[in-house]
Amino acid sequence: MDSGRIASVLSEIERRVNRGYFFPIIGPVKGELLYAFTLLARPKLVLELGTGIGYSGLQIARGLEPGARIVTVDEDEENAREALANFRKAGIEDMVTVFVDEAGSFLEKDTSEYEMIFMDIEKSRYLDLLESCVSRLKPAGILVTDNALRPELQRFREAIMKHPRLSSAIIQVEDGVSLSVKKP
Ligand SMILES: C[S@@+](CC[C@H](N)C(=O)[O-])C[C@H]1O[C@@H](n2cnc3c(N)ncnc32)[C@H](O)[C@@H]1O
Repeated sequence: MDSGRIASVLSEIERRVNRGYFFPIIGPVKGELLYAFTLLARPKLVLELGTGIGYSGLQIARGLEPGARIVTVDEDEENAREALANFRKAGIEDMVTVFVDEAGSFLEKDTSEYEMIFMDIEKSRYLDLLESCVSRLKPAGILVTDNALRPELQRFREAIMKHPRLSSAIIQVEDGVSLSVKKP
C-alpha cells in the first residue's frame, strides 16, 4: 500500500468538495478519527455501509495492515463507480470489494463477520440496521457511525447506549461520531 498515493487522492477529493462539488464526505477531521479507530482495532475485515465516492474507505484503508480487506456497500451505482475509480487511483482496488446494494438488503444476504463496521447511510436506517450490525460484529469488534449527534438520531443514540452487547461513546467532533465496542 502506497500511503502517499492514498493521501493524494484524499486531498484531491477534499479540494473538489472545497471548490463547491457537493458530496457529503466525512471530511479530514472525522476522517483522521476513522483512521485512528482503524489503527486501534487492527481489523482483518471491515464493512462500510455508505461508500459514497470512496473518501471514508480511503481513510480506513490508510490504517489497515497487510492482507486486511474492506467490503463497502452503496445503493447508488454512480457513486460506487466513482469510488472504484478513486480506489484504483489510490492503488487499493485489490483491498476493496464494492457492492451496489441497499444496506439492509446486503446485510440480509451477507454472512461474514467483521472486526469493524462503519455506517454512513441515510440516517433513518441507522436504528433499523443496528441489530444486524451487532450480529455481524466479532466480539471486541467496533461499530462506528457518522453524524451521531444529529437530532434525528436521538433514538439511535439511546439504543447504542443501553444495548446489552455494546459499550458506546459519542465523540463530539463536528456533528458527532459514535463508537460502540461489542462486549466479548
Ligand atoms: C454520506 S454519503 C457517504 C459518504 C462516505 N462514507 C464518505 O464519508 O466518504 C452516503 C452514501 O450512502 C448511500 N446510501 C444512502 N442510504 C443507503 C442505503 N440505505 N443503502 C446503501 N447505500 C445508501 C448514498 O448513495 C451515499 O453514497
